[in-house]
Amino acid sequence: MPAYDKFYSRLAVGIKASDIRELLAIIKHRKDVISFAGGIPDPKLFPKSELADIAREVILKYGDDALQYSETKGLIELRETLSDFMRRTKGIQTDAEDLIITTGSQQALDIVARGMIDPGDVVVTENPSYLAAIGAFKIAGAKLVGVEMDEHGMDTHKLEEKLRSLKNSGERVKFIYTIPVGHNPAGTSLTLDRKKHIIELAEEYDVMVVEDDPYSYIIYEDGADTTPLKAIDKYGRVIYLSTVSKVLAPGLRIGWIAAIDDLTRKFELVKQYLDLHSPTLTQFIVAEAVKKGLIDRMVKVATPYYKSKRDAMLSAMEDYLPDYVDYTKPIGGLFIFVKVDKEGFNTTKLLEVAITKYKIAYVPGASFFVDGTGHNTMRINFSYPTFDEIYEGVRRLSALIKNE
Ligand SMILES: Cc1ncc(COP(=O)(O)O)c(C=O)c1O
Repeated sequence: MPAYDKFYSRLAVGIKASDIRELLAIIKHRKDVISFAGGIPDPKLFPKSELADIAREVILKYGDDALQYSETKGLIELRETLSDFMRRTKGIQTDAEDLIITTGSQQALDIVARGMIDPGDVVVTENPSYLAAIGAFKIAGAKLVGVEMDEHGMDTHKLEEKLRSLKNSGERVKFIYTIPVGHNPAGTSLTLDRKKHIIELAEEYDVMVVEDDPYSYIIYEDGADTTPLKAIDKYGRVIYLSTVSKVLAPGLRIGWIAAIDDLTRKFELVKQYLDLHSPTLTQFIVAEAVKKGLIDRMVKVATPYYKSKRDAMLSAMEDYLPDYVDYTKPIGGLFIFVKVDKEGFNTTKLLEVAITKYKIAYVPGASFFVDGTGHNTMRINFSYPTFDEIYEGVRRLSALIKNE
């Protein structure tokens, strides 16, 4: 057999499967381990029979088009439907011409990265930030600079300091990447004042903002501010990304970019070389699903359901965890971020013990930090485990934290 590694690109050489990924892959097949590691919706909520009806209808009625190649930017029916949907639910005024349908918002992150980042450019992110966004930006050659967070998300005064010092040292900052509501992994949500501050800073320092918003549809607290930055951006600085993954089904692989003007055209060209277009069939299905109000109905069902899971997890944490453990109380999203204030406690090193001895899995927090910190933190998910698993899992987590 040839030595295949000599055929690898530098990119492929640089991509390493992490030990954590390997460990977490193993537990998929182990029924005895309770996993808080995933970030996935509860499949009980998937509107299976409605989607089956829509898929059948779409294929029989529009099959010639629905099974055919289609426009790179996405079906006009879907773009118009999503444009109305965002206006109605989020106050975002984006013309269908500025929308690009993507293969999940993961592809949107990749398109933005390829379209905007040259090696050595700086991307400013919350610290911690979403692992796969960090990955997409790094692959494009970005230098990532993290901004500290508190219970309301990114500290925008620290952001201002960072932008000033980056400017003074001649760095080229392309954009600020933020997950404003139900942050993955931190579980935080930005206040309206901070959102306004980010936009003002983007204008002052002449950088763009990439707003990644998969979670603001499912909100657990009345009165929580979920205004997208995009809806209050008067300067044309915000590129908005969203997805149907958490409000319909991730397997459809439909997300979108609400871009602006010339950027839209560039992103479209980038996407053309990635996959020509996102699947026509699922675009048709999502367009029909949105028109028929399926997302609205799913949000109505998912919100109280996930809220009760979040509450179950918070109440188990309150009961079981020692007082040197701090954690977020998310108003939206699917995650709680846990910080253990105990000398030498390292969630990366302990993951194997957690899985083998305590039969509990989480994602070590360090993976989400862009500066190598966060070893005493972990991300836990409450949408996927059952209520029994939530209680028992938190009990096991508590034993791990107290004993190790
Ligand atoms: C912050 C964030 N952005 C993007 C994604 C990717 O979502 P999609 O399934 O649309 O690719 C996720 C998925 O968990 C996420 O948490």
